[in-house]
Amino acid sequence: MLPSNSFDSEFSVSWTHRLRFTDSSFNDGTLDTLISTLSPLKILPVIDCGVTTNTAFMDDVTNWLANSVFETSKPRIVEGGEVSKNSMRVVDQVLEDINTNNLCRKSCVLVIGGGAVLDAVGYAASIAHRGIPIIRMPSTTLAQCDSGLGVKNAVNYFGKKNFVGVFDPPFGVVNDIRLLSSLDNRHWCSGLSEAVKVALIKDETFFEEIEQQSAQLLNRDLTAMGNAIQKSAILHLEHITNGGDPFERLNARPLDFGHWSAHKLEQITNNSLTHGEAVSIGLVIDIKCSVALGLLDNAIADRIVNVLQSLNLPTSHPALSDPALLQGIEEFRQHLGGELTLLMLKGIADPVDVHALDFKLVKQVFNELL
Ligand SMILES: NC(=O)c1ccc[n+]([C@@H]2O[C@H](COP(=O)([O-])OP(=O)(O)OC[C@H]3O[C@@H](n4cnc5c(N)ncnc54)[C@H](O)[C@@H]3O)[C@@H](O)[C@H]2O)c1
Ligand SMILES: [Zn+2]
Repeated sequence: MLPSNSFDSEFSVSWTHRLRFTDSSFNDGTLDTLISTLSPLKILPVIDCGVTTNTAFMDDVTNWLANSVFETSKPRIVEGGEVSKNSMRVVDQVLEDINTNNLCRKSCVLVIGGGAVLDAVGYAASIAHRGIPIIRMPSTTLAQCDSGLGVKNAVNYFGKKNFVGVFDPPFGVVNDIRLLSSLDNRHWCSGLSEAVKVALIKDETFFEEIEQQSAQLLNRDLTAMGNAIQKSAILHLEHITNGGDPFERLNARPLDFGHWSAHKLEQITNNSLTHGEAVSIGLVIDIKCSVALGLLDNAIADRIVNVLQSLNLPTSHPALSDPALLQGIEEFRQHLGGELTLLMLKGIADPVDVHALDFKLVKQVFNELL
């Protein structure tokens, strides 16, 4: 019973998460239609410098900017990769451009980049004027499979992943498969760990498809990659929009399966592992922990490890001997808030939450993998 001078009034805000798939975003109307729906007064394009190596794509960007019916500012090219969110440099550059180009809350930031650039630029857009709409064009496998769909924006701080950030969904996401053609083989594959992750949590058929298509995926088959990205992106989108916890207020964080160690591994290795590679190792750790806890059959664990290896993803690393890695469990708990909740597997697409992980058991798993 509330005291008589208290007034609680519940409200909710509806949101549409718009996701588009294309192989010609600037020419087939996909982007123009999305922008027209928003109808921004001005657009600030921000581009990951890695994307500038994709000359065919950049020609389209240049043509579009020259002929666009929308008012656009000069594109800002930003440094790419984890370094872009390891300091406030990119955030400051974007804030400065928003200021000097007089963007308002009815304007729009159009960001084209990998997951790190999306995170940093998204953070800048969401704090400028308390939130300028953003359209994301994820440019890596990982970003198209997973992070481009996320409602989280953040930069690293105090040496901790995503320490400073906000929840703020994008206005829309355009996955243009053509962007991926300029990725090196390492980044082409590394984001597939997030597709394996979401398949393991939610969709056994999808896991089997990745298993069967692993050679095509590895050999840069665009159709196989397009299918894998689409399924992964939609599973992530459905979880965010229909999972009942879009802003992660509850303790369970299924999409962070394998991430307690992945985030710590990225830090310990000074980002010599990509996020996708660290997630692959993190998945193996939690799968082997699931076996050690008596939840998962070892044969299924081996099958999952084989799939990751067939995609050229790492399944172990010398950093598993670093005692600091175990701190990842407590750091993960703090980042989530509340009771420690880690997802383990009883089978493929058969997850279970655990609330404690014995250090001895985890060290045993590390030793087994080293
Ligand atoms: N916000 C979320 O929900 C969420 C979810 C998952 C991951 N993430 C974050 O995403 C980041 C990892 O992102 P990533 O794997 O996309 O890598 P990345 O952003 O670190 O990019 C990797 C490299 O690829 C380059 N690059 C980008 N697009 C390119 C292209 N089309 N052609 C050539 N080079 C290109 C970049 O410049 C960079 O050098 C991590 O910081 C991770 O924490 C965020
Ligand atoms: Zn991830």
